[in-house]
Amino acid sequence: MTLPPFRLDGKVALVTGGSKGLGRAMACAFAEAGADVVVASRKADACEEVADEIRAIGRRALAVGCHVGDWLECETLIATAVEGMGGLDVLVNNAGIAPVPPSLGGITEALFDKTVAVNLKGPLRLTALAAEHLRTGGSVINISSLSSMRPTPHTVVYAAAKAGLNALTRAASQELGPKGIRVNAIVCGPFHTDSFDRSIPTAEIAEAMASRISLRRIAGPEEIVGTALFLASDASAYMTGALLALDGGAG
Ligand SMILES: NC(=O)c1ccc[n+]([C@@H]2O[C@H](COP(=O)([O-])OP(=O)(O)OC[C@H]3O[C@@H](n4cnc5c(N)ncnc54)[C@H](OP(=O)(O)O)[C@@H]3O)[C@@H](O)[C@H]2O)c1
Repeated sequence: MTLPPFRLDGKVALVTGGSKGLGRAMACAFAEAGADVVVASRKADACEEVADEIRAIGRRALAVGCHVGDWLECETLIATAVEGMGGLDVLVNNAGIAPVPPSLGGITEALFDKTVAVNLKGPLRLTALAAEHLRTGGSVINISSLSSMRPTPHTVVYAAAKAGLNALTRAASQELGPKGIRVNAIVCGPFHTDSFDRSIPTAEIAEAMASRISLRRIAGPEEIVGTALFLASDASAYMTGALLALDGGAG
């Protein structure tokens, strides 16, 4: 039997929120696995730094500034990626924000709209636009959160948006499956990034979070990357519509 390929040689991947955190880790790992990569986030300069890292690996890279919550900017991003790279094989909807509201009554319309725009509206629009260009065997990966299944008052808007992302994953997988395009989500538990670490006020709170995880620790972004590489590559050629829990065994 021929072993399934985890490589991405000859493929073009677009990673939103690629300037830092998990997005940066995935963009660089995909390049190491052979992909050319489009790195997008609001700050084009920060994306350009990641693009330089990818070029140093020997792959082509394109940095694009884009607010994924903006319908028209999503159109420009996909058009720029396809034109600049000559096609598209993998879309990773990774850009996300999780502002914490004080209470249900304290949620402003601005907080609600921005949270839903970045975590749900953007991924929906980008998936729709990418679907017109993704080659057969193409893969859409949505970065979701355990919060989508275990919401708390502090995560209510974020959790609802990520639950919507889970629904989008299943619905889009059904529509795009006949075209040979797969759509899956990674439902992440907590993992260390600068943003995550800043959001945890004390070491005691981080320890309390870890104590509720079977593996008794918070993940590193590199531990999410392997699953993303699996979903991007032909190793997962028969997987679509899946919501893969990657949470260290959250209790
Ligand atoms: N870290 C965790 O514990 C955790 C757990 C579960 C799920 N997740 C999910 O994992 C993903 C990555 O998280 P992370 O911790 O790596 O986040 P991060 O370090 O805060 O990075 C977020 C990325 O998204 C970009 N971004 C933010 N708003 C954007 C917008 N409107 N348009 C385009 N790009 C935007 C940021 O760049 P710019 O500022 O340049 O735009 C940055 O590149 C998110 O979807 C998050 O919800 C994280």
